[in-house]
Amino acid sequence: MAEIDRLRWNDRYTSNDAPAARTANRWLLGHAPVIDELHATIRNAGEKPAALDVACGAGGTLLWLAQRGWQVMGVDLSDAALAQVAERFQTAGCRAGGTLVCADLDVWRPEPASFDLVCSFFFLDRALWPSLRQAVKPGGLLALQTYNQDRLLTRPTANPAYLLQPGELLAQVQSEHWEILDGCSHPASGATDAVLARRRM
Ligand SMILES: C[S@@+](CC[C@H](N)C(=O)[O-])C[C@H]1O[C@@H](n2cnc3c(N)ncnc32)[C@H](O)[C@@H]1O
Repeated sequence: MAEIDRLRWNDRYTSNDAPAARTANRWLLGHAPVIDELHATIRNAGEKPAALDVACGAGGTLLWLAQRGWQVMGVDLSDAALAQVAERFQTAGCRAGGTLVCADLDVWRPEPASFDLVCSFFFLDRALWPSLRQAVKPGGLLALQTYNQDRLLTRPTANPAYLLQPGELLAQVQSEHWEILDGCSHPASGATDAVLARRRM
């Protein structure tokens, strides 16, 4: 990833032209009961539930998870975005804070089996998918959502390389290692596909 991309994203975040992520991902919010149940199971086992959001942007999802008791890590290329996340954690009085990693996801990879919940929203880097799957602990959740090819209907200038092909996201978790809890197209919410899957024990 070129330095110019970091500067471009920083510019978007500082000029308020960045994607919305000031609130938690809306599709994930619809799965709050599953997320809370996982959190409770881990706590009852005496462990700390850990979540990773890659390309976390302004951190709406991170903050939502932290406020529900998750230990969170957010990774993003944009230091301007991460500065906003840190400020929002402070304003919200979220003492647990979170670990914010300013890194290029062309290079940065999570440790295998290191998170109970791994999510990524509106960021498409196919080379990253295997390591996101591997980063989920057995029993943990993988949650992904981003735009599909229908996006071109309303945004003809979108780069097709960054849009999901039909069924592409679901195929990532179609194996005996995963239980699919939700895997669908969401045309109403702006031409996206999403998948929520549990890594089998
Ligand atoms: C469309 S935004 C999505 C932000 C957030 N996940 C959301 O749902 O609103 C894409 C994010 O990816 C980050 N990004 C782009 N390329 C990246 C890279 N190579 N490594 C890390 N982050 C990157 C940008 O800084 C931006 O915050």
